[in-house]
Amino acid sequence: MNNLPKNIKPDLHRVASFNHKMSWGVKDKPRFFELMSEVVKLVAPGFYFSDNLFTWCRNNSLFDDAAFQKSWNENLKNDSDATIAWRRYILACAAYHCVQLQGDFVECGVYWGTGIKTVTDYLGGTAFAKTFWGYDTFDYHPVEGHASFSDQQEGFFEQVQERFENYEQVKLIKGLIPDSFVNNCPKEIAYLHIDLNSAKYEIATLDVLFDLVVSGGVIILDDYEWAGVYRTQKIAEDEWFDKRNYRVIPLPTGQGLVLKR
Ligand SMILES: C[S@@+](CC[C@H](N)C(=O)[O-])C[C@H]1O[C@@H](n2cnc3c(N)ncnc32)[C@H](O)[C@@H]1O
Repeated sequence: MNNLPKNIKPDLHRVASFNHKMSWGVKDKPRFFELMSEVVKLVAPGFYFSDNLFTWCRNNSLFDDAAFQKSWNENLKNDSDATIAWRRYILACAAYHCVQLQGDFVECGVYWGTGIKTVTDYLGGTAFAKTFWGYDTFDYHPVEGHASFSDQQEGFFEQVQERFENYEQVKLIKGLIPDSFVNNCPKEIAYLHIDLNSAKYEIATLDVLFDLVVSGGVIILDDYEWAGVYRTQKIAEDEWFDKRNYRVIPLPTGQGLVLKR
């Protein structure tokens, strides 16, 4: 494949830092951010403070990848999208690998489509080489376990569709998972991003789609390593993968990564 983004050799003596003041699970936010603005002054360059992740003396590779910077910046829809920069780069790097395999791309839990758009734009935009399936209700379904999002009002689906107007390879499937897989399912999957904020529906997704993932394909579980309300997902997913002799690789971003044999 010759249209893959190329790495540009970074400056040996300059590393980027990132300080995006949005974190979850914090009691007194003004106090917390006041203290953290002092703390970041005490660490070596190359710090990343965002999305409940504080690291320093890191290369922060996502900020050296010009193609990623472009696709990430151009697709920001809200503050949370900016916050989860490192999570987005995990998706982009996984996609870089998977676009060279046999099989389609799938995202379960699309919301505004920013995850799909960032990945497709990183890898060619409207010339993206794969079919990308995106599954979501695109509105609130009052069923047990479905996480609601306030901006999913009337007309929301049409707005998301508009973002992909010129992307013929992106198929947005509206409906409740797993029913929406019936009649609308790829034969083989190279890249599977599951982001439903629900143990019940993420397991239902794995039940249907895992066997379709090709050998060498990648599965990313967006909330796997998050505790709090998300911990039910890790517990259910560990049990599910254990039965199949797979280990989820927990990432410091809060995601979980599975490499399909
Ligand atoms: C966290 S958002 C997805 C964010 C998106 N992956 C991104 O990268 O920006 C979760 C989405 O999952 C959808 N969802 C949750 N359970 C679902 C189900 N059973 N069927 C279809 N969509 C579902 C919600 O409607 C919501 O849009």
